[in-house]
Amino acid sequence: MAAIEIVEGDITQLDVDAIVNAANESLLGGGGVDGAIHRAAGPDLLAECRSLGGCPTGEARITKGYRLMARHVIHTVGPVWRGGVANEPELLAKCYTNSLALAVVHGLNSIAFPAISTGVYGYPKEPATNIAVRQARMIRMPERIIFCCFDATTAELYREIIARTA
Ligand code: AR6
Repeated sequence: MAAIEIVEGDITQLDVDAIVNAANESLLGGGGVDGAIHRAAGPDLLAECRSLGGCPTGEARITKGYRLMARHVIHTVGPVWRGGVANEPELLAKCYTNSLALAVVHGLNSIAFPAISTGVYGYPKEPATNIAVRQARMIRMPERIIFCCFDATTAELYREIIARTA
């Protein structure tokens, strides 16, 4: 099983092979973690994203990391929470598995995820964290999977769910 780590802070500052961006289907930037990643990576990231022609919800695309310390950005599009009746759990799980699969295909050893869909897209934190942890545990590679939590409450929730479901 991959080693799972919880870190608290800004994902743009992490020195890992890939950070995951909680993007939208246009892949052309936005607010939240998406805005922070584009600001930190610089304009070349947007230029590469333009060439990708968007990304459907649940899928993932990889780019270079440009000015980031991370070598790559894996852009995935989480579901907008619609009360749980629009396939949100399956789509969120796909974000994790597709991002992890891209990391494996590209030979990456470390990948850091934000809490996809739990900001602007409104996915309730606890079920979203359960899905993130479950999907991370289902694979053997990459070696290190980091959950980057923007605040202490989120980090505590990850720790609690990891302990509870161990
Ligand atoms: N580092 C780590 N986590 C962060 C950071 C950061 N720098 N900034 C925010 N978060 P959100 P979504 C956390 O809204 O819900 C964008 O406009 C934040 O606290 O960024 O998937 C896109 O373009 C929350 O827990 O992403 C889409 O339109 C988590 O990241 C839309 O938002 C996700 O919050 C995607 O919404």
